[in-house]
Amino acid sequence: MTQLNINKLRKDTPGCQHVLHFNNAGAALPPIPVINAIKNHLDLEASRGGYEAAKIALQQTEKFYDAASKLINCAPEEIAFLENATRAWDMAFYSCEFKRGDRILTSVCEYASNYLAFLHMAKRTGVIIEVINNDHAGQIDVEHLEARVSDDVKLIAITHVPTQGGLINPAEKVGGIANKHHIPYLLDTTQSVGQMPIDVKAIGCDFLCATGRKYLRGPRGTGFLYARKEIIERCNPPFIDLHAATWVDDNDYTLRCDARRFETWEQNIAGKIGLSVAIQYTNDLGILAIWQRIQYLATLLRQELLNIHGVELQDLGSHKCGIVTFTCLNKSPAEIQQYLASYNINVSISFQEYARLDLAKRNVPALVRASIHYYNTEEEINIFCDTVKKFLKESS
Ligand SMILES: Cc1ncc(COP(=O)(O)O)c(C=O)c1O
Repeated sequence: MTQLNINKLRKDTPGCQHVLHFNNAGAALPPIPVINAIKNHLDLEASRGGYEAAKIALQQTEKFYDAASKLINCAPEEIAFLENATRAWDMAFYSCEFKRGDRILTSVCEYASNYLAFLHMAKRTGVIIEVINNDHAGQIDVEHLEARVSDDVKLIAITHVPTQGGLINPAEKVGGIANKHHIPYLLDTTQSVGQMPIDVKAIGCDFLCATGRKYLRGPRGTGFLYARKEIIERCNPPFIDLHAATWVDDNDYTLRCDARRFETWEQNIAGKIGLSVAIQYTNDLGILAIWQRIQYLATLLRQELLNIHGVELQDLGSHKCGIVTFTCLNKSPAEIQQYLASYNINVSISFQEYARLDLAKRNVPALVRASIHYYNTEEEINIFCDTVKKFLKESS
């Protein structure tokens, strides 16, 4: 495994000169090759015309499928480019057919938009949503999951790493259960892809959604869907257009055979190229090296925060990732975020409505999310913790 050259990587990241960025779970700072690839394509569109530029850049856009498939260990034909993780997830979810009384199994930490789609589907069809308990560490209890499996379970859909904390759900164990009982399995890896190794074959998921702007360091408004070859043919996308299907007869059409049946014809080509370069950048650095560095820094940050009187760490799970969440006694997350922002330190806030089942149960209205990437440093962690201390002192 290659060692990451942090100085070089920071030089490659213009944002590092301006901000102390602990909001990588919101949107990470893009590296120069990604920024240049997007700008170059926009220039090409301006000088040659959008369709003509797309034709010139065809090889580059096709590379996106190779890079994404390499990242998660699947075939390029199993990848679709979408505008974000939500739409990628939706294309998979709304492809599934449910009838009254069918059941969907999910986890406590499920992301709001996914759960809203479950509710939407429940109102439309009468499908039953069942939330599997957490185990003692706060992650999905796989024994409870298996105990709740029956013939009427038509989907298992969970979030790998939640938006509101550092826990990592045992995606592979869930996959083992889903595969054993032949239940389609939809995994939301929005927060985990680019942060840690993801191998769809080892996990055993049928669908996976991902976003570009977070740990992959790609542009906003980009994402992708993985759909396992065998499930593609069984899935009827909720929407189709002339890219997803061919109008072969006045009253008939044929769907594409690959995952691109979930795409639309019109795409943000500059964004797609930017995402492609971002994934190649990740692949070149090596996801294992990235993951080791993130774990090291996040563990350090948690240790340092633990030493600050008045700070309460909020992360659950037996294995934790680069998302570090905390609250401060009698201080609102908004106050903390604002104070940190006055020192050019970026964090975000997770509100209860982003993950109601989890945060309401824990009686946490909101928390501060400080999310680490490999280009962050020990020095930044020290500055961050000193600033939190200063805030607590000044506001006491
Ligand atoms: C766990 C999780 N799933 C899905 C999403 C939605 O991703 P996107 O905004 O790319 O649609 C987010 C966004 O923060 C998320 O944290």
